[in-house]
Parts: sequence; C-alpha cells; structure tokens
Amino acid sequence: MGLNSDVRDVTSCHQRRDVVCFCSHGHSFGRSFIHFLLHSAVISFSSPRLVFLEMNAQAYARVTEQGENVRELKARKADKAELDSAVQKLLHLKLEFQQLTGQPYQAGKPPAEQDSETNDVDPDDSVDVVDPWTVQTSSAKGVDYDKLIVRFGSTKITPELIARVERVTGQQAHPFLRRGIFFSHRDLEQILDAHEAGRPFYLYTGRGPSSEAMHLGHLVPFIFTKWLQDIFCVPLVIQLTDDEKFLWKDLSVEETQHLALENAKDIIACGFNPESTFIFSDFEYMGQCREFYRNVVRIQKLVTFNQVKGIFGFGDSDCIGKIAFPAVQAAPSFSSSFPHTFQQREDVPCLIPCAIDQDPYFRMTRDVAPRLGCPKPALLHATFFPALQGARSKMSASDANSAIFLTDSPKQIKNKINKYAFSGGRDTLEEHRRLGGCCEVDVSYMYLTFFLEDDEQLAKIHKDYSSGEMLTGELKKKLVEILQPLVREHQERRRAVTDEVLSTFMTPRILRVSL
Ligand code: TRP
Repeated sequence: MGLNSDVRDVTSCHQRRDVVCFCSHGHSFGRSFIHFLLHSAVISFSSPRLVFLEMNAQAYARVTEQGENVRELKARKADKAELDSAVQKLLHLKLEFQQLTGQPYQAGKPPAEQDSETNDVDPDDSVDVVDPWTVQTSSAKGVDYDKLIVRFGSTKITPELIARVERVTGQQAHPFLRRGIFFSHRDLEQILDAHEAGRPFYLYTGRGPSSEAMHLGHLVPFIFTKWLQDIFCVPLVIQLTDDEKFLWKDLSVEETQHLALENAKDIIACGFNPESTFIFSDFEYMGQCREFYRNVVRIQKLVTFNQVKGIFGFGDSDCIGKIAFPAVQAAPSFSSSFPHTFQQREDVPCLIPCAIDQDPYFRMTRDVAPRLGCPKPALLHATFFPALQGARSKMSASDANSAIFLTDSPKQIKNKINKYAFSGGRDTLEEHRRLGGCCEVDVSYMYLTFFLEDDEQLAKIHKDYSSGEMLTGELKKKLVEILQPLVREHQERRRAVTDEVLSTFMTPRILRVSL
C-alpha cells in the first residue's frame, strides 16, 4: 500500500525515536528517559548513528538474555507466578526492541546495520503489550486480539453465542457485539443460563478517575453496560477507583476524589437507570460499608506477592498500596460487598463488561472466588478504541489532539478529524480511485464501526471506500456528521446532572430489581 502523508508522519516519528521504553515491570518512561540514555551514550560514542546502533544492540541483548531466563524457568518447571512474571518482562523488552529498531525481534538475528526506515515491520510479527497500565502495539491495525485470547485464556465470542444472547433477551444484539468490539468473554453462558432460569445476576464495571477530560473511548464500556442493563433489567454497580489513581498518578487524594465526582456525571449522562444503578468512589464507600472492606481483606489474604508479581508485573520498588490495590478492584465482583443493594445475599453472580486490559484483575478475582465460597465473576471484554493518530498509538488525556473529548465543540470535532484522523487513503486522487482505500488502518472508518448504527450504511461505506469510489474527505465528513450530534447530546445530558441527581446515584441503597 502506498504511504499517504499521515503514514509518513508516523514513520518519521519512528525515525526520530520518539519512543517509549519499559522497565522490567511495565512502567513506561517517556522521551526524557531516552534523552538521558542518548546523552549518556554520546559521551562514549562519536556519532548519533553509532549511539543508536549501540542502543539497538543493547536492547537486543536484553531480549536475548530474558528469553534465556524464561527458557531456563520452563526447563526447571518453575513456579507459575515466577514464569508469568518473566514472560511479561520478555514481552515488554521485545516491544522496546521493536520500537527502537523498527524491526521485530528475531532470535539469532541481531539488529541489522542499516537504517530503520528500510525495514518495514511485518504486522504478523507485531508485539503487543496489554496490561492495566500499558497498551502498546507495533501494528498499524492495532492489537492482535486473537492472539490475546490465547495468551489470556479467555473465549472468543462466536456468532452462535451472539445468537443465544438474542434468543434469551428477545432483542437484536448491540452493534458492539455484532461488530466484534466486545470480542471475548469468560463464562457468559453461565450468566445466560441463570437469566433463563429466572435467577438474578448483576453488572459491575468501573472507571479510574485520572482526569476530568473523558473522551469517546471511555464511553464504550458504559454505552454497552447501559444496553445490558436495559435488556436484562438487572442492578449495576460502578466503581470509581480514586484510590487507584492516587496510588498510580501524581494526584492528591482530594484531587482524585473530585475527579471521581466529575467523571460520575459523564457516566450518569450515558443514561443509566437511577433506580438500579449504584455508583461509588472507593474513598467514600470503603468508609461507609464494612462488608466491602472485609471482602477486600479476605481477598488480600488469599493472594501472595509472588502471584501479583506474576499477574501485574509489580516489582520490589512498587509501593505497597499498589500491591494491595487489586483486591479493591476485585471486591465489587462479590454481591456480599453490597449488603444494601442485594439485601445480604452473597451468591448473586456478577457479569463485568470491561476493556480487555482490565482482565488481569479479574483473573485474580476468579482465582480466589471459589476459596471465598463465591461465584466467579463472568466477563465481557472490549477491544480498545483507537487514537486519532492510529490504532498503534494510545489516546492520552494530556494530548488534546489524540482523541475526541466529551467537551469538544462541533468545530473542534470537525478540525480534529480532518487534521489528525489517520487515513487509509492513497497519496493521490488517481491512485486512490485506482487502488481504493484501506479500511483496516483508517481511523475514521474504525470510529464509524463504533458509532454508525446502521449496518447497511456501514457496509456500503466499506465497499465504496475500498473500491476507491469514496474519498477520505467524504469518509471524514460522514464521521463528523455522526459525532457532532452524539457529543452535543452527551453534553446536554451531562448539564442536566445536578448535584442532587449525583447524590442519588451515589447513595448506598436497595436497587429496584427482581431478586
Ligand atoms: N481500573 C479501572 C481503570 O483504571 C477502573 C475499574 C475499576 C474498572 N473496576 C472496574 C473497569 C471494573 C472495568 C471494570 O479504568
């Protein structure tokens, strides 16, 4: 495929080495770290080219060494947690190598002595790192979700399962299900069995309030959860992990609590039913409900440091708050954590819709559930919502141009899409007409798969854009027409969320449901 100007931007960015590196437990360092490395290396090498080659060679050596560690652990049948932790570190190092050199790591083949721009990355060799703090891939098409299902051990959502959801609820499946945006699950069948047998279940999802600026991607799990709440008529609990963001970000307790309330308004604006939805901040609810804290501690007693190291990649220098936190995100998976809501029932199963990066928390939760005598939570996993710049990069609340924010004006939406949405179109009109555009990497097209509800229209756009009949400008225009009213309506609904409405949602109470 020919490179259009957007592609070139990304490529040249690669050459400038604006990369992110990872330390052993998945925490990313920004450019300043690279500059520090460069700076220290320049002292011993005469040209920047040599510095890069040396950095490449070192990154290569780190992968090779860690690969040997993993092999050695496997050979001596080491403890699973220890092996998982080593494999995680290996993945991070492979990604670091690929970002640095522009080439996939291949055992036995040290980085070639040539400039990276001549080495296109084979997307099939891409390295994906997905955990609650890092989502990185080297493929323009985004993360390889099929590989992720294998690595995480979850189950792919099949057309048969979707048909069963439709049969059980008597409703057409949401576009997010039909289009594979929610693509993987754990134990969804059991939840459907329960529902069919007239037994209750509840929904649980959440948000880490790290910034006031929520963007379109943040809405995806909430839009879907609202749909689930509507079709199943079940209670829903939404956790705002202000404590998590206090521990991970440079924010005070007061700031994260404030952000939790601001974010709650955006969540409420998605249209949740006030009679069956409880939204809580960890800082607040933990002090209100001893049953919740008791469950947190019960979970903490069942998970070792070694296990969380394996699951989350924590290291010896992480603060103990981080190490203990996963139990806080696990606790809402058990109905006994909400005695008001479920009238003391401890056996109500739970279904968690979330982005796949949250799965490590719930693998841990599912592991401890039987030992607590509780049902394992079921899960529905979503893919990631791509940044405007492409599925390879991540949206960032601190980069106003990487995403459409819920506070953007119609004009800002139009400008951002026209200026920044990565295009799968061709370089010239002539080429585009002859060869057609590539929907697989085109961000405007990807956004339409999320927000254009009409299947037929979407299929027609796919056909017309791929054949070259439709141009990038036309595709972008269509997207702008969809997003402007969507964001405007969200803003109107958010304005209607008064402090009183907020406090209704956030008061522990019996939720109106048929238990
Ligand atoms: N850790 C999540 C985040 O940073 C927030 C969260 C808490 C969550 N509980 C959840 C997300 C349950 C999905 C499902 O965004």
